[in-house]
Amino acid sequence: MMGKVKMGLQSGLLIMVVLFLGVADVKGKADEVNIWPLPQWLSRGDKRVFLSKDFQLHTDGSKYSDGSGILKDAFARMLDVVKLGHVVDGNISSSDKPIKVIHVLISSPNDQLQYGVDESYKLLVPSPENPDFVHLEAGTIYGALHGLQTFSQLCYFSHSTRLIEVNRVPWKITDQPRFSYRGLLIDTSRHYQPLEMIKKVIDAMAYAKLNVLHWHIVDTQSFPLEIPSFPKLWDGAYSASERYTFSDAAEIVRQVSSAGCILFYAQKRGINVLAEIDVPGHALSWGDGYPSLWPSKNCQQPLDVSNEFTFKVIDGILSDFSKIFKFKFVHLGGDEVDTSCWTLTPRIARWLHKHGMNESQAYQYFVLRAQKIALSHGYELVNWEETFNNFGNKLSQKTVVHNWLGGGVAERVVAAGLRCIVSNQDKWYLDHLDTTWQEFYNNEPLTNITKISQQRLVIGGEVCMWGERVDGSNIEQTIWPRAAAAAERLWTPYDNLAKDPEQVTARLAHFRCLLNQRGVAAAPLTAPGRGSPEEPGSCHEQ
Ligand SMILES: *[C@@H]1O[C@H](CO)[C@@H](O)[C@H](O)[C@H]1NC(C)=O
Ligand SMILES: *[C@@H]1O[C@H](CO)[C@@H](O)[C@H](O)[C@H]1NC(C)=O
Ligand SMILES: *[C@@H]1O[C@H](CO)[C@@H](O)[C@H](O)[C@H]1NC(C)=O
Repeated sequence: MMGKVKMGLQSGLLIMVVLFLGVADVKGKADEVNIWPLPQWLSRGDKRVFLSKDFQLHTDGSKYSDGSGILKDAFARMLDVVKLGHVVDGNISSSDKPIKVIHVLISSPNDQLQYGVDESYKLLVPSPENPDFVHLEAGTIYGALHGLQTFSQLCYFSHSTRLIEVNRVPWKITDQPRFSYRGLLIDTSRHYQPLEMIKKVIDAMAYAKLNVLHWHIVDTQSFPLEIPSFPKLWDGAYSASERYTFSDAAEIVRQVSSAGCILFYAQKRGINVLAEIDVPGHALSWGDGYPSLWPSKNCQQPLDVSNEFTFKVIDGILSDFSKIFKFKFVHLGGDEVDTSCWTLTPRIARWLHKHGMNESQAYQYFVLRAQKIALSHGYELVNWEETFNNFGNKLSQKTVVHNWLGGGVAERVVAAGLRCIVSNQDKWYLDHLDTTWQEFYNNEPLTNITKISQQRLVIGGEVCMWGERVDGSNIEQTIWPRAAAAAERLWTPYDNLAKDPEQVTARLAHFRCLLNQRGVAAAPLTAPGRGSPEEPGSCHEQ
């Protein structure tokens, strides 16, 4: 008896839940589009269409030949994330006309990934009366990659038909990013991050349409990367295994395609890699291999400004970097420089005196000399904001100032005619676990910048995953979903952004669950940073 009553109660609850979901679904159909980040423009219908089981890629090779296989590989990955591991074993009845082909038209033959590349695309998904093909059109392969990401979010595996379906067809989408620089920083010095984890982070960045992985490779605590020109530098690694060979770094970045072309792992996904060496302040670990880089044994950073060898090492590193890190920019750090070891070391104090420099002039001399070396290797420069705050008018015109200390900096940087990346720590530092996704969403890079000519100098923004408290065990749930909230801010036109982030909660929850289904350990939305689900329930309500 008791068992039966319980059963009755449960099925009653079940009916209520089903009814509730039914209502939510209808409402969802009316106001909601589950695409993250939200496109620039879209229209949709109310029909449903199936994808054929042998859904295929067609491309007009007359302009873009896909010789390096970027499009072919992206299409295969797209099908994988659409299937989500399910067996697609439903049967399409003869009366249903499935879509058999995605036709991709790319107008530029150039597959070089570079800053400012055209990332726009147009996507048309037809209705079932006329399901000839999905049409995807883009200026470059990198726009087409974004189009495939969007398409993957329109498709889903249906448990009733056991087929891949697209709802609310026909879809028409026109899309392009608001900012050309949409970054995520990872820090492999405070903790080592396994190569496989770095690749997973890159995969998930592509899902959210971020396009720059800022790799803060080395810092005070460890030097994990092999530098062929100075092979003892990675003596500063935590252990023998917590290291990246030079080939590993190339591989994060590079792969050999089936056509035999050398390609970068990140490049294949439309992700640029911005490499950083943070000099002169955050470089103690450099001296494990080369102690003469330290001012002295007891006073070990910043790097010795008086020693020519210091600049030889920087030159060697940047020369090696230029062979694998092909992004237009290199990051030279320059933040949090405590110069007291320079004045406390008699040898360096005498050098300063001889050259008529005080310690702040020596800091400027160091940063500007490192800039010249990077320029000589063909890079443009990124430096943390202290360099601008201290001697902004001396920086190379090719400098992008990287804000972190707080708000209001971009405003001053662009007024001075330099470019800026926004990462104010109160809103866009992922290691600040108490910063909520709503705050990430609301952080507007153009705050208080009204002149269009100055707005253009804000090239974008970046969320920063500093590594003090993350390793391979928890980095994903600390990054996601909050980085996705910032990704929409950086991608979606200002007028399409929600003025109140609560309006996008359901759509972000959907994207977070999609990340989980794709194997990314994105945390629930209900906790600020990397929380756990608190109660039994649907992924969409955590
Ligand atoms: C599809 O059709 C095949 C062959 O008729 C059949 O064996 C299979 O069970 C069907 N699948 C479903 C999900 O109905
Ligand atoms: C260094 O010298 C410059 C130029 O004379 C001066 O403006 C600055 O205040 C000095 N800084 C320190 C820390 O003494
Ligand atoms: C923008 O300007 C307003 C008014 O001057 C000021 O209160 C606010 O702090 C500024 N915001 C930032 C991020 O600088």
